[in-house]
Amino acid sequence: MKDNAVTVEFIAIPENEKFARMVAAAFTAPFDPTVEEVTEIKTAVSEAVSNAVIHAYGASGKGLIRMELWSSEKGTVTIVVEDYGIGIEDITAARAPLFTTAAVEERSGMGFAIMESFMDKVVVESEKDKGTRVTLIKTLDLSCGL
Ligand SMILES: Nc1ncnc2c1ncn2[C@@H]1O[C@H](COP(=O)(O)OP(=O)(O)O)[C@@H](O)[C@H]1O
Ligand SMILES: [Mg+2]
Repeated sequence: MKDNAVTVEFIAIPENEKFARMVAAAFTAPFDPTVEEVTEIKTAVSEAVSNAVIHAYGASGKGLIRMELWSSEKGTVTIVVEDYGIGIEDITAARAPLFTTAAVEERSGMGFAIMESFMDKVVVESEKDKGTRVTLIKTLDLSCGL
């Protein structure tokens, strides 16, 4: 498998969470990942994209999400989900399990915890009123397909 890179940009609406999941699945398919690996990557991507949809653009709800996907020949997949919204003031607090700024009954505050449990590494970078960039990294077990 050669190194690969794909970038897609889409508007921040809930309908595009499914699109983003499908892009992640399609991008990783050539590595012949296990069902579990694909499910984990799709779920992590879903959480990152739904955060951008729900939290980034406030009441206007208008904005773009950029998704960059990279893979190395060794099977390491890097997925960047970026928005240009309100940003996160306190990243450490936001990443803590159960922390949410949304209505409690609406969301559970487990998005970042889910991303962390399903990926090898999660990097969150954010600047107030500039946007947020979540980097999800996972190395697939390439020995499975042999
Ligand atoms: N892309 C984003 N833009 C702005 N704020 C965000 C973004 N992603 C996450 N946040 C903040 O981090 C908090 C925690 O996110 P998360 O763990 O996914 O829980 P939830 O989405 O259920 O609130 C959110 O409530 C929100 O305040
Ligand atoms: Mg969330």
